Amino acid sequence: MDGNGRWARGRFMPRIWGHKRGADSVREVVKCAASMGVKVLSLFAFSDENWGRPQDEVSALMGLFDQYLQFETDQLLKQNIRLRFMGNIDRLPEKTRSLLLGAAQKLSACDGMTLNLAVSYGARAEITEAVRAIARNVREGIIDPEHVCESMVAGGLASAGMPDLDLVIRTSGEQRLSNFMLWQSSYAELYFTKVLWPDFGKAAFKAALEEFSTRQRRFGLVSVEPALGVSSSLGRMGEEPSGKTPC
Ligand code: FPP
Repeated sequence: MDGNGRWARGRFMPRIWGHKRGADSVREVVKCAASMGVKVLSLFAFSDENWGRPQDEVSALMGLFDQYLQFETDQLLKQNIRLRFMGNIDRLPEKTRSLLLGAAQKLSACDGMTLNLAVSYGARAEITEAVRAIARNVREGIIDPEHVCESMVAGGLASAGMPDLDLVIRTSGEQRLSNFMLWQSSYAELYFTKVLWPDFGKAAFKAALEEFSTRQRRFGLVSVEPALGVSSSLGRMGEEPSGKTPC
C-alpha cells in the first residue's frame, strides 16, 4: 500500500496524514473486494523493515491499526469477512497485538472473504521460520530429509491453508516485491500502477482486476491454441497446475 508519504508531501501535509487517508482506501478496497467475490485479500500494512522508520511515524501507524481494529471489526463481521494476520506480532505494542488477536477471534467463524493483514511481516523471516520448524522435525527423526517437500514448506508459512497469490498489486509506481509473500507469489500476476495508495479506491481496484482477467496464466505449461479445437490446458484462473509436487 505504497505512496502514503508522497501523497501527503504533495499536499504539504505530514506523512501520517497520508497514512490516515490510506486507511480510508483500506476500508473501500476491502468492501469492494468482498463484494466482488475475492476469496482472500492480503494487505501489506507494516513490514519488518518499517520498524526502522521514525518513532513518531511508527506510533502513529500503530494508532491507525488500533483504530481500524476497534471500529471496523463489527463492519467486517456484517460483511462476513474473516481476519487473519501474518508477521511477528510479538513486536507489536500490547494494545495493538491484543486488538488484532481479539478481532481475529471474533471474526474466525466468518466464511466470506478472508482479510489477511501482514503486520511486522517479512517473507524471508516467514520462510526461515518454516524451514526451522522442518529442521527441528528432521532432528527429532519425525521427518526424513528426503521427504521434505514444497507442501511442507507451504504448510509452515503464516499463510498455510490460504491459496497462492493470483495477483499482486503494487501502487505508487514502485516495481518490486519488497519481501512480500515471496513463496506464495511464485506464479502471481504482477500489476504496477502509478496511483498512490490514498487515491487507490474502488475504481482503481476494479481496473486492476479487469487487467488481471485479460492475462493468460500458463504456470510454466503451454497453452493449447483454441483454434486447434482443443480447450486450454490451463485450469480456471487461480487454480494450481495439476502436476504440482505432491507429498
Ligand atoms: C507505505 O507507504 C505504507 C505503509 C508503510 C503503511 C501502510 C498503512 C496504511 C495504509 C494505514 C492503514 C492500514 C490498515 C490496515 C488499517 P509509504 O509511507 O512508504 O509511502 P511513500 O513511499 O510515499 O513514502
